[in-house]
Amino acid sequence: MQVTLKVFRYNPEVDKKFHYETYNIDVEENERILDLLELVKGHHDGTLSFRRSCAHGVCGSDAMRINGRNMLACKTLVRNVGDKITVEPLLGLKVVKDLIVDMEPFFDNYKKVLPYFINESPLPADGKERLQSPEQRARFDETTKCILCAACTTSCPSFWGSDDYLGPAALVTAHRFIFDSRDEAASERLQIISETSGLARCHTTYNCTMACPRDIHITQAIGELKLATLTGKVE
Ligand code: FES
Repeated sequence: MQVTLKVFRYNPEVDKKFHYETYNIDVEENERILDLLELVKGHHDGTLSFRRSCAHGVCGSDAMRINGRNMLACKTLVRNVGDKITVEPLLGLKVVKDLIVDMEPFFDNYKKVLPYFINESPLPADGKERLQSPEQRARFDETTKCILCAACTTSCPSFWGSDDYLGPAALVTAHRFIFDSRDEAASERLQIISETSGLARCHTTYNCTMACPRDIHITQAIGELKLATLTGKVE
């Protein structure tokens, strides 16, 4: 089939403002948007810039707007978006070049929630593992699936309005550790996400949940965090 691929282009070294370039290309309907971008880069314009690494929905580097919705280019098939395709960079982050955005503000927010395991207690007597029941592990399984692609955070109107809002991805990470029975810093993280740049900025629009390529129930996770901050209970 033939598709019309419209691509956002911006090179700050030569362009005063962004523009779109259109490519008419023959593709198979089972090809991915990432394949189309590779084809354009390889055969039409080698200067086209976009991030990608794993090409299998694991690394999270190729999140972009495809026909107006945040998706991973490597997980989106042509047959699912039609023969007129527009690809644009994520919203709310500065465009570095073409489809590449500056991820620093996103990762700065991520770092604020202490995205690592904290437990200062001595290891169990056998010196091996901090055991956890299947139920305790299941409590935070959902939020371990995040690949930090930023599709959720950059679909959130609160983040568009203020990039100091922690955003859904950072809150998902906070949830992953707060509800881990082995971690000892839940109250510290709850304090961090209770500050003005945190949970209060979530207006439950569900954009994040709809954008997540891993199908994480983000709005529900944020709701559980709100409840924990109100009750002081993590359960
Ligand atoms: S390239 Fe790794 S998630 Fe798409």
